[in-house]
Amino acid sequence: MKKIAPLTSAAMAAAVCMVVLTSAHADSGRAMPRNVPSAYTQECAACHTAYPPGLLPAASWNRVMTGLGKHYGTDASLEAATVRQLNQWLQDHAGTYKRVNEEPPEDRITRSAWFERKHRKIEPATWKLASVKSAANCAACHTGADQGQLDDHDLRMPAGLDTRSRRAWND
Ligand code: HEC
Ligand code: HEC
Repeated sequence: MKKIAPLTSAAMAAAVCMVVLTSAHADSGRAMPRNVPSAYTQECAACHTAYPPGLLPAASWNRVMTGLGKHYGTDASLEAATVRQLNQWLQDHAGTYKRVNEEPPEDRITRSAWFERKHRKIEPATWKLASVKSAANCAACHTGADQGQLDDHDLRMPAGLDTRSRRAWND
């Protein structure tokens, strides 16, 4: 027994460490990492929200970054070196926890099961308001979207919401 004890406590320590690491990762999962490359802010937030890397799995980011010439109906090409740098950063910070692990259709955050669940109370017409235009326009409703602040506390109602459609904001 005496011989097993150190091993057991080492294993315990490793297990505790794993739990701490895993939950730290899950908690910071949708926040923007501190080390955002300036090219990410300049290039990838020129047309839309700077999406936090934790919102898509690594394989989805890789497809997005290798297909920038045909990017959701537009051309978002960048120099090869910039593509490599940003792809590496996205891979390093991609979502790994369970609900982000599945690759959504079209590699869209907005098609992820978790996204649809979180927004199930939003009326279909709300996404089409002139003040919103698309579900991909996170900042229309999430005031801190570019900093990765996406929780319930940083919400605003886009202009033009009728009373019925305010339901999702009021609980
Ligand atoms: C020239 C404009 C432009 C640039 C630059 C651009 N995008 Fe996009 N991106 C778009 C458009 C347009 C869409 C589709 C938006 C929609 O459906 O409303 C899109 C959608 C996306 C989506 C899917 C959003 C969803 O529906 O969940 C991701 C992810 C994405 N872009 C990542 C990036 C990354 C990473 C970069 C930088 C390498 C980038 N984009 C640069 C125009 C751009
Ligand atoms: C039309 C407004 C609107 C748009 C656009 C929108 N959201 Fe939301 N989002 C909401 C509302 C309202 C809630 C709260 C829903 C509820 O509690 O029923 C929410 C909830 C969330 C939550 C859960 C917050 C929590 O604390 O549980 C996340 C994460 C989130 N949104 C991310 C995003 C991302 C990422 C985008 C863009 C790709 C986006 N949203 C686009 C309105 C919007």
